[in-house]
Amino acid sequence: MARGELMKKLLASYGREEDFRAVAEQIIDEEEKKNNRVLARSLRKSLDAGPSRRVKPKALAPLIPFPEAAGDFIELIEPTHNKQAIILAPDNVRIFLSLLREYQHEDEIRRRGLGIRSKLLFCGPPGCGKTLCAEIFAAELRLPLYIVKIDRLISSYLGETANNIRKIFEFARKQPSVLFFDEFDALARARSEDGEHSELRRVVNSLLIFIDRIQPKGFLVAATNFDQSLDPAIWRRFDEVIWFDRPNRRMAARFLRMKFKNVSLNFNPETYLQELDGFSYAELERVCVQAIKTSIIDRKNLVEEKDFLAALTDERRRRRRSLRMTPA
Ligand SMILES: Nc1ncnc2c1ncn2[C@@H]1O[C@H](COP(=O)(O)OP(=O)(O)O)[C@@H](O)[C@H]1O
Ligand SMILES: [Mg+2]
Repeated sequence: MARGELMKKLLASYGREEDFRAVAEQIIDEEEKKNNRVLARSLRKSLDAGPSRRVKPKALAPLIPFPEAAGDFIELIEPTHNKQAIILAPDNVRIFLSLLREYQHEDEIRRRGLGIRSKLLFCGPPGCGKTLCAEIFAAELRLPLYIVKIDRLISSYLGETANNIRKIFEFARKQPSVLFFDEFDALARARSEDGEHSELRRVVNSLLIFIDRIQPKGFLVAATNFDQSLDPAIWRRFDEVIWFDRPNRRMAARFLRMKFKNVSLNFNPETYLQELDGFSYAELERVCVQAIKTSIIDRKNLVEEKDFLAALTDERRRRRRSLRMTPA
């Protein structure tokens, strides 16, 4: 392929590591073919030394069976999204890449007597990617994702909750996985209740002690919608606290481009960014999907501005109602 074409492909692959490497390899091959061995060798050296050098992924972990009766509150989730499906703030991208690298070099790090960061707390308003990110992170790590529903664990098993917690942690010690405690708020809420719920408090405290002591084979991730008012007794138990915020206009624009990537439009959705201020990703997603569905039902091969606006109006109404219902 002509050098100009390869350069274009290289630039177009910016940000996609696999594609970038594939084109870079092609460029090196071409140079080798042209007998420019010195240049080819030095290009390969730069490529291998670069930050994107791929570490061989760890093998997929075999799955051990659930401990008895834990099926009610632990669920194995099959990943359905990949990293192209998520918009992450640059800070979070950096954190996740560094966690991945740490995990890939776990053995070397442990041999030097150091631990790796493996207990993570995801904070932020609903619909901003905590669950989605846990799924994609697990897929990137090639680890199975287990979701623990804390509200079910606590409310329906009050008498035997401590026993169940022990089972979960036994499981986490053996099964390399991402163990995801969704709705960790339930725990924080329970902790702030007192008196009559002293058993609950005891259970919550024993869960916190477990989190302290556990050395997970993989990662323990907890997600909470509480952003500021989280009890320090809870967050200090985590190696990393990661915030998932509502998108700013730049991130919302990226999200819109991603969602409308494969459809034709008769308008520029980015002209509505101001109207979308304060929306979560999940809310933006509903607007986009609703507009696309209208175009499918009406058998149009493009999404029209009026459909987008209708979806936006619906979402606004929904937001107004649900905001009013949420206690302050
Ligand atoms: N950062 C994001 N990037 C892309 N899509 C997102 C993002 N956050 C949320 N979504 C969309 O909203 C849906 C719900 O998000 P979720 O991860 O369940 O939010 P949370 O767990 O923070 O409440 C996702 O399945 C996805 O479609
Ligand atoms: Mg969630």
